[in-house]
Amino acid sequence: MAASFSIFILLIAFSIRFSHADPRLDIVARSCESTSVQNVDKYFKNYAAILENMEYEMYRNKFAFSEAGKPPDKLYVLSQCLDDLSNLECAQCFSKICNILPSCFPATGGRVYLDGCFIRANNYSFYREVITEGDMKRCSDDVNTNQDFQSLLRDVLQKIVQKAPNNGGFGLAHDTKNGTAVHGIAQCWRILDKDMCSACLIDAVNSAIHCMPSQEGRALNAGCFLRYSTYEFANDPDAGSLRYAIVSFIIYISAVVFICTLAIAVGLCLGKMAYRQMNSGHKRKGKELDHLVAMNQGLQFLQFKFSTLEKATDCFNEAQKLGSGGYGEVFKGTLPDGREIAIKRLYVNRKSRNDEIYNEMDVISRAQHKNLVRFLGGCFTTIENFLVYEYLANKSLDSILFDPEKKKELDWGKRHRIIVGTAEGLEYLHKGCEVRIIHRDIKASNILLDLKYKPKIADFGLARLCSCESDKNSLVNSSVAGTFGYMAPEYIAKGSLTEKVDVYSFGVLVLEIISGVKNTKIESENLLETLVTDAWKHFQSNATSKIIDESLGSEDIEEIKREIQLGLLCTQATPALRPSMTEVLQMLRHKDMELPIPTKPPFLDELVDLSSSFGFNIPGKFPLHNSHRTEDCN
Ligand SMILES: *[C@@H]1O[C@H](CO)[C@@H](O)[C@H](O)[C@H]1NC(C)=O
Ligand SMILES: *[C@@H]1O[C@H](CO)[C@@H](O)[C@H](O)[C@H]1NC(C)=O
Repeated sequence: MAASFSIFILLIAFSIRFSHADPRLDIVARSCESTSVQNVDKYFKNYAAILENMEYEMYRNKFAFSEAGKPPDKLYVLSQCLDDLSNLECAQCFSKICNILPSCFPATGGRVYLDGCFIRANNYSFYREVITEGDMKRCSDDVNTNQDFQSLLRDVLQKIVQKAPNNGGFGLAHDTKNGTAVHGIAQCWRILDKDMCSACLIDAVNSAIHCMPSQEGRALNAGCFLRYSTYEFANDPDAGSLRYAIVSFIIYISAVVFICTLAIAVGLCLGKMAYRQMNSGHKRKGKELDHLVAMNQGLQFLQFKFSTLEKATDCFNEAQKLGSGGYGEVFKGTLPDGREIAIKRLYVNRKSRNDEIYNEMDVISRAQHKNLVRFLGGCFTTIENFLVYEYLANKSLDSILFDPEKKKELDWGKRHRIIVGTAEGLEYLHKGCEVRIIHRDIKASNILLDLKYKPKIADFGLARLCSCESDKNSLVNSSVAGTFGYMAPEYIAKGSLTEKVDVYSFGVLVLEIISGVKNTKIESENLLETLVTDAWKHFQSNATSKIIDESLGSEDIEEIKREIQLGLLCTQATPALRPSMTEVLQMLRHKDMELPIPTKPPFLDELVDLSSSFGFNIPGKFPLHNSHRTEDCN
């Protein structure tokens, strides 16, 4: 009762706090194309379908693009908020702007600029346009004749142009001199790369500068937005960040808990005095408080106290450490009630990781399946952040599979069940829930095993949420994340992200499970040989049994060979040829089903050629841990 009341207060406090901030809903400009579409009804329908696609992405990522329909009525839409808006403010801005745009129809398209967000629609893919004839500028009527103003403005805009392209496209700067202040903000649409962003902003600065001596000016380009003003208008960019949300959240929790505790304490004291008179010397038992938290929409998890985690891990004793990675360290802990947990202690002060934490919580709190690691909750202090998961007794698959002694525990029955369970978990991610999820980092160390060797997929820090409608479209990523050796060739070379990227990693994993060898650790004179290419060569010469782990018996040889073929089907160079996870499961469940003949997997030497033309580095046999993510999923 008291707990639900405090959550209630908390949510109210939250919404009040966020509704105070400014989503900057003023309309700056609207322009419509001069050509018209033939079938306006269809165009409206497409627009409605697109909005449904984009709404959630806008709320989550503050950026989305999507398309719907067939030519000649095919519609493309892109929208983005300025990065200093919080997710909630962005949602407000988007809900206004998406209602203004259709006033352009039956024109083939149009653009609307609000001070907080932008939307554009057209009947062709304009996403990568940077500067167009339709670009505009808006200058205020008020002027500032202070002599310092011009040089100050140039300095501020210069700063932004240098800053934004290296800051995810967002730049904020201000300067004051002799009583005059200039504030500037710039935002490139996230689909543009650094150079395109620079080009766009340089052009924007050139047009905004011509607003002089207006006190305020805005440049509205196809690829970016730039604004300057003598008064401050931007929000605190940290206000939208996870850390800020968490910190304010903790302040509220603390305040509410404090008030509740106070009330309880006062009540208790009064009660105790009466009680003591009847029965002296009775002690009240301390109890850990766990708060069920509903953060934003649909995000539910437990809030653990730092002291609870400290106690559970014996003050993060080295002996309790399960492992570490690019994200931080993982400890085993035991709660007072005996439950075992795994605690991920995240490295401090890595701003980019905040997105990943939020991403992981977001994904994992939506996705619940027997083959996905269960997320229990988090602990967020001003110094460190922790995520808490169920503990799995047999740790990660790689710790057993690649250990010459331990791998003997894994007979074929267990390995087959690990393959099937992982496939089930992945299928669920790809199609089981309201949004499809691409994990992007399927590998042996991210498959955890419980006491009975049942596999559970872990580590959703890189996972991407995509709406179900757009499953025909691949997503183009400007930065690629994953682990080298498991990454699909089209993803490395072009950043093209579909479920087939996970299918590829799954195929590599299947071959590793069968051979007990790491894909990139294969012994050969040819440095560029991988387990996948090796398996392929043996498949062609009808000798796949050569790659089978020696610790596996020979009685299941036919089934094992069949699953090698399945692994090769999943690692084919052409994504369209790889089966979906649903098809993979059918093949695994129906053992008499004949498998297609796989085509060639990607060969590393070809990949090196391919990727050098795209400017990527393939670091030989070393793992690539490029974990920066961009918001590019539509
Ligand atoms: C967009 O619409 C215009 C006017 O109807 C038409 O001329 C043009 O071909 C269309 N573009 C595409 C890519 O369909
Ligand atoms: C500051 O501005 C005033 C007028 O606004 C001007 O007279 C004065 O010279 C300026 N001082 C400096 C140091 O530029």
